[in-house]
Amino acid sequence: MSNDNNTIAVCGLSWGDEGKGKITDYLAQKADIVVRFNGGNNAGHTIEANGIKYKFKLIPSGAPLEKELIIGNGCVIDPKVLIEEIENLKSLNKKINLKISSTAHVIFPFHIVLDGLEEQSKGKYKAGTTKRGIGPTYSDKAQRWGIRIFDLIHPEYLRQKLAKLYSIKKRLIQLYNPEWKMEFEEIFEQYKKYGEILKPYVIDTAYYLNKALDNNKKIVFEAAQGSLLGIDEGMYPFGTSSNASALGISAGTGIPPKKIGKVLGVIKAYTSRVGAGNVPTEIFDDLANRIREQGHEYGTVTGRPRRVGWLDLFNIKYSSMINGIDSIAITLLDALEGIDPLKICTAYEYEGKVLKSWPIHHEIIEKCKPIYKSFEGWPSLSQEGWTKIAKSGYKSLPRAMKIYIKFIEEQLETEAAIISIGPQREQTIFMDEDLF
Ligand code: GDP
Ligand code: IMO
Ligand code: MG
Repeated sequence: MSNDNNTIAVCGLSWGDEGKGKITDYLAQKADIVVRFNGGNNAGHTIEANGIKYKFKLIPSGAPLEKELIIGNGCVIDPKVLIEEIENLKSLNKKINLKISSTAHVIFPFHIVLDGLEEQSKGKYKAGTTKRGIGPTYSDKAQRWGIRIFDLIHPEYLRQKLAKLYSIKKRLIQLYNPEWKMEFEEIFEQYKKYGEILKPYVIDTAYYLNKALDNNKKIVFEAAQGSLLGIDEGMYPFGTSSNASALGISAGTGIPPKKIGKVLGVIKAYTSRVGAGNVPTEIFDDLANRIREQGHEYGTVTGRPRRVGWLDLFNIKYSSMINGIDSIAITLLDALEGIDPLKICTAYEYEGKVLKSWPIHHEIIEKCKPIYKSFEGWPSLSQEGWTKIAKSGYKSLPRAMKIYIKFIEEQLETEAAIISIGPQREQTIFMDEDLF
């Protein structure tokens, strides 16, 4: 058995963009290894540290601190994007200690084309994807004709498997668009080059990680997306194509479930969602614009304005349960500054009754009415003001914010280990030295 304090998973409890990147970077200060276990470059994780703003899509958020980085087998990789990210880190003179799972799957240009075409044909059931080829690549993995990183770095396998996949995808795409053209040789040659570049980083990460645990290395597992977007655990079909909660860690890394120590659930002080699907607590008016501006709620990957709403503790209670959270991090509390009153949703009403459990089906959620409790807001401060408060700790937080936090803790029957009051690393209050 691993020591409980040697591993921690950082999982988003909502619809993504909860601040997982920032929290992972913070915990990475104490870690040896940071691991991504799901998703691909649909993720956009932001870290602000030492005057630099990093935006990672595939690279785990331990990169600014030059930690060992692992992209696990549960991820899907667009090699072009990954190579760009590696180059970017090199240009910042960062030491890169990266290992990529040989069994992660590869995103090809036809996956990206199909992502767009298939979305269009879904009509009202479209999720508003990031159009990065995520769904089509995971579909091919499940269909068992997907191409893995192992194939990418072996041109003889790549040629054979790609030839088959290409002919299938070409026929499929041409059903939508008979004019579509992309030459096989062109894709093959390009991907062969990508394979040559990435080869030095490729290993069997399951063996590597299990050995690291045996050697008492400290590991942070960094989820992409949010639990409510998870393929099994989320609000299907308005989500992504991987397990975006702690449920995905074992399958996405090869670490046995019983060796995963703690799970830290990350909660934004309000709700945001980019893409489609009902958000019961959504706010539409000027207030929404204000929160969007104060929280800089624009997609890291696509630049789309994020939809915003009041904090929904009813769906977060569900995601806390399936993640088995040990503790929470609450982020973007500062972004609610100056807004009064604030509201938190505690339950939904459906057909005149108060529901006891979150109705995972969108058909029911669409007909639900949130039940709110109101809270007093807190005053606006300058960036320096928030940094100062973070330095002097929890006791210095505005009184109304402490009441808001306490309510969240009570509702989720857990304690907040991290309070985040700004995008920068030092705008963080860490309250549980035993956490990790
Ligand atoms: P992730 O996908 O969960 O890693 O989150 P994103 O990076 O996509 O979105 C979170 C955004 O909020 C980023 O721009 C962060 O820099 C920023 N952020 C994180 N924590 C805080 C916070 O406590 N306050 C403020 N104002 N911004 C934060
Ligand atoms: P991070 O890791 C927020 C959303 C998309 C869309 C749905 C499916 O930064 O929190 P996909 O491209 O995955 O097929 O899109 O999921 N989505 C995200 N929303 N944050 C993300 O990642 C997301 N990754 C995907 O907007 O609704
Ligand atoms: Mg994000």
